[in-house]
Amino acid sequence: MTPSDVKATLSFSDGSPSMALPIYKGTVGPEVIDIRKLYAQTGKFTYDPGFLSTAACNSTITYIDGDKGELLYRGYPIEQLATNCDFLETCYLLLNGELPNPSQKIAFTKLVTNHTMVNEQMQFFLRGFRRDAHPMAIMTGLVGALSAFYHDSTDINNPQHREISAIRLIAKMPTLVSMAYKYTVGQPYIYPKNDLSYAGNFMRMMFATPCEEYVPNDVLVRAMDRIFILHADHEQNASTSTVRLCGSSGTNPFAAIAAGVACLWGPAHGGANEAALNMLGDVQKMGGVEKIGEFIKKVKDKEAGVKLMGFGHRVYKNYDPRAKLMRETCHEVLGALGLENDPLFKLAMALEKIALEDEYFVARKLYPNVDFYSGIVQRAIGIPVSLFTAVFALARTVGWIAQLNEMIGDPEYKIGRPRQLFNGATARDVKPLAARV
Ligand code: ACO
Repeated sequence: MTPSDVKATLSFSDGSPSMALPIYKGTVGPEVIDIRKLYAQTGKFTYDPGFLSTAACNSTITYIDGDKGELLYRGYPIEQLATNCDFLETCYLLLNGELPNPSQKIAFTKLVTNHTMVNEQMQFFLRGFRRDAHPMAIMTGLVGALSAFYHDSTDINNPQHREISAIRLIAKMPTLVSMAYKYTVGQPYIYPKNDLSYAGNFMRMMFATPCEEYVPNDVLVRAMDRIFILHADHEQNASTSTVRLCGSSGTNPFAAIAAGVACLWGPAHGGANEAALNMLGDVQKMGGVEKIGEFIKKVKDKEAGVKLMGFGHRVYKNYDPRAKLMRETCHEVLGALGLENDPLFKLAMALEKIALEDEYFVARKLYPNVDFYSGIVQRAIGIPVSLFTAVFALARTVGWIAQLNEMIGDPEYKIGRPRQLFNGATARDVKPLAARV
């Protein structure tokens, strides 16, 4: 960390001694005030629920400028990665810091491809779930269960274990997501096919049956791959911070990633793509484009408790760059499938236009996020709505692993242990049961 010439001084109105706090500069982005010695020197904690002003780590992986609407993976703009690279190149970049050269790409693709099958016992484990279980409930269980099947890669402090568990997780997530899907629809599982691309293989495992050959459509494979790239990492979001916190106890990588899957499920995070599509369906049922005004009124009424799902972001106070790319992919996919007049897409575009001009959204800098359009693309590809968040988890797995491995490799890493402002009862005596009122 590079120290800044400027120091912060914390002073107190009661005459307690003030404290000088070091400031560090990153390569880009806001500087940070180092408060690590604050408690030792003043006996006080800082208070920042929701981490509105707190950097919890030092990272080199992903940078977001929320005001500009900029997203960089290892310095590369997301627009260039989405246009010039495929998902496995992006995985290599996130894990290793550099894009692969041609021979590195071949070796990495081969390595991932060789780990796509899962232990056959996983099928029997899956059978314990109800057929109507939510895919994210199944995924939380399956990913956590990997640690019961792959004992030889569970030591988070062993770099080789970390490397092999990373490859296993990236390789096996598409297999697990498609197994979760096939289980819920009662179809046989389709084994991976190693001559297909990562995204093409996922689509085949999802949509093929043993009865006939399945040839994935190139436009849809590219769209799927782009969904994966756009969701691959997003710096210290809720699920990534969950993975870091969980991993900070020294637990195994599969358990830490399962914690990330569980966090991602929430509608304020990865569950928003499912919620956004359901919301569009509800507006469609209300009467579609004609009823947007009525719906927006409800969104603005705090009492109604309705949010415009797929809008707003803690960091982006401008158009989410991923949403722009996803909107473009939406056009391509619907065009390739002859669905240009898809009513939900038209509704989404009309809703976006009205919201972007509305004072409520303008004043709060609420713009569409990636989930506003990714649901429409996934639905057009044929992915059921309940599986959207599992697809997000599949893509985010590489980001979680890169962040987890970065933390473990950081010499300053410690178990994560937030503190609190306690406002409960102070010490008191337990009364015998008969004396309690
Ligand atoms: N619809 C209506 N109002 C909203 C929305 C929305 N989608 N998002 C924020 N607001 C309002 C809030 O009510 C608040 O208004 P107020 O200042 O009058 O109280 C103001 O905008 C600020 O919002 P916060 O909730 O304080 O912002 P925060 O950073 O905590 O939340 C979040 C960000 C959770 C993403 C929020 O915008 C939201 O719930 N959006 C909908 C869900 C969604 O799309 N999530 C996906 C996030 S991206 C991802 O995970 C890939």
